[in-house]
Formats: sequence, C-alpha cells, structure tokens
Amino acid sequence: MDLKQNYPLKDLNTFGIAVTARQYASFKSVPELQELLKHPAIDKENLLVLGGGSNVLFTQNYEGTILQNRIEGMTIVSENEDFALVEAGGGVGWHELVLFAIAGGLGGLENLSLIPGTVGAAPLQNIGAYGVELKDVFYNLEAVEISTGNLKIFDADSCGFGYRESVFKKELKGKYIVTHVTLQLQKKPAFNISYGAIKSTLEAMQVKEITLKTLSDAVIAIRRSKLPDPAIIGNAGSFFKNPEISPAEFASLKEQFPEIPSYPAAHGNIKVPAGWLIEHCGWKGKKIDNYGVHTDQALVLVNYGGGQGNQIRALAYDIIESVRQKFNITLLPEVNII
Ligand code: EPU
Repeated sequence: MDLKQNYPLKDLNTFGIAVTARQYASFKSVPELQELLKHPAIDKENLLVLGGGSNVLFTQNYEGTILQNRIEGMTIVSENEDFALVEAGGGVGWHELVLFAIAGGLGGLENLSLIPGTVGAAPLQNIGAYGVELKDVFYNLEAVEISTGNLKIFDADSCGFGYRESVFKKELKGKYIVTHVTLQLQKKPAFNISYGAIKSTLEAMQVKEITLKTLSDAVIAIRRSKLPDPAIIGNAGSFFKNPEISPAEFASLKEQFPEIPSYPAAHGNIKVPAGWLIEHCGWKGKKIDNYGVHTDQALVLVNYGGGQGNQIRALAYDIIESVRQKFNITLLPEVNII
C-alpha cells in the first residue's frame, strides 16, 4: 500500500485547482480498499473519495485522506432476450462505459454520453442529461462500508434517487465507498429524443436513422456546443441545481417575467433553469481575472487557469445573492464545495 503525503490534486479535479491532500492513496480492487481502510494512519473521519474529480471545488488544501477509486472492468454479467446486466468497476470512466454499451448494441446510456466523471461517482448524484437519469437504467451497486470494511449491495430503492440526489449525499454521506455499479441495459433500445435540442440536432446532422451511435453523436454535439471541455477550460459542469418551486411561486414569477422557461418537476412542482436566472442577472460570460461564468452556459463556472477555489466559491455566493434579490429564488450548489 502506498500512502502518499502532501499529494498534489491539480490534475485530479476538473476545475484544475492547485491544492494538496495531506494523505492520498488509490485502490484497484475491493480487497485493496478493505486493506487500506484497516491502515491506522488513514483518517476515516476525514475521508474523501475521488472519482474523476468532476463534481468538486477545492477551496483549500485537504487536511484528511483522499482515496481514489481505480477499480476497472466492464462485463455483461447476465442477459435475456430483452436486457443485459452490465457491471462496471467504480474507477471506469463514465463515457468509456457509454461506448462499451453502444458497441455492444445495448441501449439506455446514449443520452448520457460524454458526462465527465467515473462510474462509481455516477449514482451519488444520480447523473442525468437530455431526458435520462442514471436511475432509469440502474440495477444495483456494491459498496464498502467505511467503518467496517464490509461489502453491501444497494438496489435502486435503497439508493433513494432524486434529482441530482441519492442517499449517499444525505443519510449515508461519508459512510460508503461505491466499488461496482450494475446497469440494466436494453437489447431493443427505446430511443429518448424528447429533449428539444436533440430533435433539432438530429435534423441539423441530417440523421436518417436513429441508432445508439447517431443519438450519442447528437448528444456529444450538443454538449460540445454548450459545455466547456474540462481538458481545456477548468469546470465541473453545472455548478448549481435547477431550482424547483411551487406552482404559486411560479405563477407570480411568470407574471413579472413572461418569457421564463419551465419544466414539470416531482410533486407537482416546477423546475426553472438556473442558467436562465443567472443569465438574466447579467452574469453570463462574466470574467474576473482568470475565472468566471461560461460564455455559452451560465450554469457553468469556469477556471481559465490559476483561479483559486475560494475565489470561485465567492463568485458562486455573489450569483446566489443576485438571483435571490431579482427572483426570490435561492440557488443550491450542485458541486461539492470542500
Ligand atoms: N438557459 C439560459 N441561459 C443559459 C443556460 C440555460 O437561458 O446560460 C436556459 C435555456 O432556456 C435552455 C434551458 O435553460 O433552454 C435549459 O438549458 P440546458 O438544456 O443547457 O440545460 P440546463 O437545465 O442548464 C441541465 C443539467 C445539465 C444537463 C442538461 C441537459 C442540471 C443542474 N444541469 O442543464 O447537467 O447536461 O440539463 O439535460 O440539471 C451537470 O449536471 O453538470 C450538467 C451539465
């Protein structure tokens, strides 16, 4: 086991924030993780598990232990006429798994193409895009309990999935490490092109026949046109969640701002795009020194290089405050601020 001290994290978070971890180790298998958790030097109370580092903003050096999941492997574990169960290691890159499914003719992940991050991190926030969420294809996951090292299987119900939510962000926060995820994928894919931009992109690409590959290509084209590539400009995707408000609150907003977009949400509530609210407070494309708000999607905060986590956090708070003043809506960060 290789426990490193004062480990640089700049390349391990997609915001590209240059901080260090007091301790760092990675693991490639469940037994390796269980072994690590028995190590007396590991700070179990201040343990942070990193996947692709694509949903975190470090505002200071991390004074605990960072463990990085590097469990690989993608396998079809069982199949019938309609479905295949695909198990993937938590350290597999999410988009690698999407490509594996598409190559095998298995449907369900194509709308989730190109999402940064790892398979192990995907269930934590029930990743979603273009009308599909992880929970729609989820079968179960295997996780190690940090306090005991025991393995546990969680089915969809016990994961408590919601919009960018799961039990692992709430009651079980910091208690388990996801080691493997199993998805139920379709052998006779049912394509989901309900999201407006998908239809128009397929048309613009002059796609004659919708296949897993063409749909995935359309999603990739949309993402590339709006979202900055973290390999080029530091970012963690949407920085805030889209707020959900009551129909009464929405009605009064709509009176003041008739052009405000909206979508139906759970429990009869209404979801409004945070990107629209932020843009209408004048933040879109705003650049302060070497960080700011993305030019093509106001929901994404960016680090052009050398930006500090606490500066980006301060910008996020300023945005929250101006959206609250103008729209009386309090935005919640989607990114983990550490
Ligand atoms: N909009 C603006 N200005 C902006 C951005 C958005 O007016 O700067 C408005 C537009 O009206 C647009 C609507 O917001 O029609 C929705 O925008 P978009 O389709 O880009 O999606 P989003 O609601 O901003 C969510 C997810 C994204 C996901 C897309 C597509 C959240 C927090 N974000 O963004 O997820 O890719 O939908 O499904 O739910 C992520 O989680 O990191 C992420 C990128």
